[in-house]
Parts: sequence; C-alpha cells; structure tokens
Amino acid sequence: MRKMKLIGIGAGDPEHLTLQAIEALRSVDVVFLTDKGPESADLLSARQAICDRYMRHHRTVTLEDPPRERNAADYEGAVRAWHEERAILYEESIERHLADGECGAFLVWGDPSLYDSALRIMDAVIARGRVELDHEIIPGISSIQVLAARHKISLHEIGEPVKVTTGRKLSDRDFDSAASVVVLLDGRCAFDRLERRDLIIYWGAYLGTQDEILISGPLADVAGRIREARARARERKGWIMDTYLLRRRPAP
Ligand SMILES: C[S@@+](CC[C@H](N)C(=O)[O-])C[C@H]1O[C@@H](n2cnc3c(N)ncnc32)[C@H](O)[C@@H]1O
Repeated sequence: MRKMKLIGIGAGDPEHLTLQAIEALRSVDVVFLTDKGPESADLLSARQAICDRYMRHHRTVTLEDPPRERNAADYEGAVRAWHEERAILYEESIERHLADGECGAFLVWGDPSLYDSALRIMDAVIARGRVELDHEIIPGISSIQVLAARHKISLHEIGEPVKVTTGRKLSDRDFDSAASVVVLLDGRCAFDRLERRDLIIYWGAYLGTQDEILISGPLADVAGRIREARARARERKGWIMDTYLLRRRPAP
C-alpha cells in the first residue's frame, strides 16, 4: 500500500508550520509539487524552500498543473472537469514515482480544508481505484487565522456566527445572517459591489510574508486605498493573494 500525506504548510510564513507538519515532512519519501505557471512561481519556490529547510533524503516530482478555463459560463462544471484532469495527472504520477510501501506528500497552502482542491482530487484518485492509497491530512494555519492575528481581532462578535465566502459569491445579503463575513479568492475587489454603508473592512495581502500589507477602517473610507495598494502590488509582483473580513457595525 502507498501512503500520501496532504500537509498544510501555512499561508506564507514558514514559521507557521506545525510540529506535526515538520514531523510529517521528515517521514516522506517523495514530495509532489505543482507548478501553476509563471504567476505562481513564488508559491512554488516557497514550497521548495520549506522542503530544503525541513526535509532530508527525499525525491521531488514537479507536476505541471493543467490550465483552467477561467471564463466558462458553467463555473462549477469547468472546475469539476479541471479536477478530473488533475486527478488523472496525480494518479499517473503517483503510480510512476511512488513505490509500494513508500510515503508521498502534497504541500497544501494554508489549511487543506479551506478552498483547496487537493482533498477532492485525492478522493477522486482513490475512487478511480487504479492506485491503492492510504491518505492522511495534516492541518495547517490558514490565511484567515493570520489575517485575524495581524489585525489583532476576533473573527466574530461575542457568540455570533462568521460566514466564509468567495469574492464571486459576496453580496449584501450575506450580512443578513452574519455580522462578520470573511472573503477569499477575490480577484476583482468584490467589496465594490456592496451597497451597504455600515461595514468595517480588515484587509490583508501577502499575509505572513515580507511583502505583507494591512489596511483597515470603514469600507467607504478605505476602499480606494485598498484598490490602489492592490493594483500597485499586483503590478510590482505580478500576482496578489489577499483576503479580508467585513464586519457590520452595530446600530448606534
Ligand atoms: C485557493 S485559496 C487557499 C486558501 C488556503 N487553503 C488557506 O488556508 O488560507 C487561495 C486564497 O486564500 C487567500 N490567501 C492565501 N494565502 C494568503 C496570504 N498569504 N495572504 C492573503 N491571502 C491569502 C487568498 O484569498 C487567496 O485567493
């Protein structure tokens, strides 16, 4: 039986690896890294730096991620097709590079349970039944936790719910059921679409890295600053990763 570990590596700060993640890295024979093209080159080198720092005697296999149809009308269908393509690629690579009895690993950004496809792809590989695989998930510190720590805030009001969503889905209605809404995967400043005027934003980009940027304040006052900071940073680095918490201000 082959074994595969999906190891959460934190969202940018190598010091955020847990002791369990470091132990897991040390037990691995083969690490599978995914290359998502030039825009994500920094993320690939961050993973490589973690391997160099914590691993010994391992082999590295780099997989070229198939491109994803970004503007498909059927978003969910396009993502499912992309997952299937990746499952086949992972299966072939595991079969070829991981011997029976060996342990492999995928290094997952942040925590594997949060908006990451690695878990679903591993389930698909197992369901296809071509490679017999035992898998384990090692949790990691997510970008959301780093965002809250950097802004020195709780994610929620006392005893209240928090909603976690994506830029694509963010809407004014989210605040009907939760006073606090965390947004990930927002390529287009989705907060600009909101009509509410009673929101505070806690925004962070490149959290946990040397390039970290933090901005907070009433959304109406700081939205322009965030847009500018975002555009400048994206131009300078070629890519951006940002996340934010929006909080409804209590009625006076
Ligand atoms: C594919 S999701 C992966 C989330 C990851 N599994 C986690 O636990 O944070 C990528 C999104 O996470 C957020 N993100 C991840 N790392 C980040 C960082 N260092 N700074 C700010 N946002 C980050 C961004 O919203 C980005 O678009």
